[in-house]
Amino acid sequence: MTIIDKFMRQHSLTEDEYLELLQHWQDGDVVKRLSEEAVKLRKQHYGDKVFTRGLIEFTNYCRNNCYYCGIRRDNRNIGRYRLDCGEILECCRDGYALGYRTFVLQGGEDPYYTDSRMAEIIREIKKNFPDCAVTLSIGEKSYESYKLFREAGADRYLLRHETADDSLYSSLHPDEMKLETRRQCLYDLKKLGYQVGAGFMVGPPGQKLEHLAKDLVFLQELHPQMVGIGPFIPHHDTVYADKEAGSVELTLFLLSVVRIMLPKVMLPATTALGTMDPVGREKGLNAGANVVMPNLSPVKNRKMYELYDNKICTGEEAAECRGCLGMRVEAAGYRLVEERGDALE
Ligand code: SAM
Ligand code: FES
Repeated sequence: MTIIDKFMRQHSLTEDEYLELLQHWQDGDVVKRLSEEAVKLRKQHYGDKVFTRGLIEFTNYCRNNCYYCGIRRDNRNIGRYRLDCGEILECCRDGYALGYRTFVLQGGEDPYYTDSRMAEIIREIKKNFPDCAVTLSIGEKSYESYKLFREAGADRYLLRHETADDSLYSSLHPDEMKLETRRQCLYDLKKLGYQVGAGFMVGPPGQKLEHLAKDLVFLQELHPQMVGIGPFIPHHDTVYADKEAGSVELTLFLLSVVRIMLPKVMLPATTALGTMDPVGREKGLNAGANVVMPNLSPVKNRKMYELYDNKICTGEEAAECRGCLGMRVEAAGYRLVEERGDALE
């Protein structure tokens, strides 16, 4: 039995076996087999539905200094902004009218948003839009903070683990950031009943297939409801300005592997994928993804939330983003739906 057959049958492998599987990422026949299986599984659970999450990038201040990230603390060349509660609610109002039923509040780790401020924002969104899910993506916090946000009504939390390998994690982040803290946060979030999203970039400097095999084992163990995977893209004002971007093909391969490993997972075709390839998000859907995350942030702020160079969709109004994605998704044979889109388990 080949490693591909074994994976198709069991939907899980050991680290060494994942490495063997990953070594086939450029083999056309294997890519085809895996993507067909991934699409079959997605159809089985979610039909032709593509779920939307309205992304509100509400602050680009960050106390962290991740070497790859365009809004890192030491980047003095970007204008910084924060949205207040009223502005965030305005984004939600626009999004609700366009059919979004999940709002993702994403930002740097910005101390201005104290726990009580954050809880107040969550409560306001849930009060005004009770049929919508609130997803947070605001980094590492204490168990108590996550608990407070959960009690305020937050449903989901996105915190990519970035890499499950200690030494790669240390090479991508300053000393004060530890993989162990990241892992603990993810397990805390699970314990508190959040639908949890982990994930990683494909192709940051120093990443090898061995590291990706560890990521897959970590995801297998954590069993998150969502997984965010996108190519690394350099940003001109970071330590990695001159590094090469990650591969679209390897990202697509990993999307298929993750769909097969976690058949009911919510898997976005990311903006980074759409930035690297004009039809990257459509390719993502055809590899097993079932979520898109259009931007709901005010147009005046979008260019300032520049995590990497040439980020797409920074000029369009929310309505244009919705229209454009709707057409793209339908042309690719799927249906954008007006639902909260909770993971099936
Ligand atoms: N502060 C929150 C956190 O740490 O989870 C959320 C914001 S952070 C900018 C969201 C994600 O952007 C990170 O988890 C990282 O994987 C991704 N990201 C950052 N810089 C990137 C780059 N240069 N290329 C691709 N993705 C990047
Ligand atoms: Fe904080 Fe990127 S370094 S969001």
